[in-house]
Amino acid sequence: MESTNYYIPSVSAVLSSITCLFLFFIVKKRRIPPFVLSRWNELEEKCSNLILSNKDIKRVSTILLKEIEIGLCKETNKIADIKCYPTYVRNLPNGKEKGKFLALDLGGTNFRVLLIQLGEATPEKEFASREFPLPDLIRNSSGEVLFDHIAECLALFVKEFKVDKEILPLGFTFSFPCRQEGLTKAKLVQWTKGFTCSGVVGHDVADLLQKAIHKRDDVNIKIMAVLNDTTGTLMSSAYKQPDCKIGLIIGTGTNACYVEKVENMELWDGESDNSNQCIVNTEWGAFGDSGSLEFIRTNFDRALDSTTPNCGKQLYEKMISGKYLGEIVRRVLVYLAKEGLIFNNSSYVRLLEADTFKTKLLSEIEEKPENDLSDCKRILEELGITNFSQEDCAKVRYVCQLVSKRAAFMVAAGVATLINKINEKHTVVAVDGTLYRKHPHFRHLMAQKIKQLIRPGLTFELMLSEDGSGRGAALVAAVADRMDREETNRN
Ligand code: BGC
Repeated sequence: MESTNYYIPSVSAVLSSITCLFLFFIVKKRRIPPFVLSRWNELEEKCSNLILSNKDIKRVSTILLKEIEIGLCKETNKIADIKCYPTYVRNLPNGKEKGKFLALDLGGTNFRVLLIQLGEATPEKEFASREFPLPDLIRNSSGEVLFDHIAECLALFVKEFKVDKEILPLGFTFSFPCRQEGLTKAKLVQWTKGFTCSGVVGHDVADLLQKAIHKRDDVNIKIMAVLNDTTGTLMSSAYKQPDCKIGLIIGTGTNACYVEKVENMELWDGESDNSNQCIVNTEWGAFGDSGSLEFIRTNFDRALDSTTPNCGKQLYEKMISGKYLGEIVRRVLVYLAKEGLIFNNSSYVRLLEADTFKTKLLSEIEEKPENDLSDCKRILEELGITNFSQEDCAKVRYVCQLVSKRAAFMVAAGVATLINKINEKHTVVAVDGTLYRKHPHFRHLMAQKIKQLIRPGLTFELMLSEDGSGRGAALVAAVADRMDREETNRN
């Protein structure tokens, strides 16, 4: 008879199989490589306040809607966080715009000058554009230095493209909170995104630009419009897609504008015409400034805020935009390292310095598939971190994912609130901004969450509007120029 050898497992073998199975399920559930398990729970626990539940996100959306309503109402606008400024931009291009138009786009780390041509043969053609760096020194100097520098770059530009002898209509995208008093009059309410130039708050920025230009004799322009980048983005997309009702920026800063009925806009003091609608620049970056986001803000957010020149302001923006996400990640990593949960055998001195972990690194680290940590490894090496492990890389990636996801969900709450408020069957959202364009998952995370938050029956589309803010400014200038000419012809 053939004998069969039965294997009788020892107690320790059983235990170790159970442990393996257990680990396998944890790893599977979290989709993380198996070498990462040491002290993972503790790390998760320490970062758990960066995770927003659906209940949190719905609450953000509910409060945001209330804040927008407070902003739209004349009586309560003074105390509103979300100021909902009327933009005075109402008319879309109708195809009769002709000629060359300049746009100046100021609002981030660089500023751009653009020249576009409109005409029958070429519906819209950008034929020249230059980006000029805006060093910290200028961003934190005086208004005079800032606008003189802009005028100088403008002079170089018109000379280079041989339009210095023409008087060109110009649209000025100035992406900071401004109280508009007309299409060409915009008073800066406060600086954001690290700008601090003195002598600009409370002043009309079109006037400051015009004065700087008048000091020189090599530029001839006519400022036709001052607008926010969100408005430019919306306008340049609405030109092609009439369902476009929201303009959204997720870049150095964040903000959204949307099309509102004039009857809901108590602050509107412009003329009423047939359109009965106007674009509202929400300036939602300031959401939370009077405390409504404290239920989700973390100590990382508070510590970051305390180091900014506009401390206590733009709190929603500081949880979302490119100027801040890298710095939040850096702060979380330093905290985890001090708790002994990461970089235990490493030196991470450079990481102790503010702003060493740039937001673009989140995009680079999250780009590759989950099990490929090569970019993360390269980045940590470039940051001068020594002797780190694979496990450290996975932890860095995990923190980046948490911070990006939280930001995407916060924006989703804002966008869904506006879609529900507009309440049309289909809404197109024009989006621009480096973070949105460069981050590998931001768009998807946002779209997924918006879907869950909007009213059943409503649909939406996120439409990338590359360089909308610059082109939009030129288009708004073109419309204003056409309307001026039509008015002159009538008289
Ligand atoms: C500014 C907004 C701007 C946004 C995006 C914010 O800091 O306040 O005016 O639209 O950044 O650039």
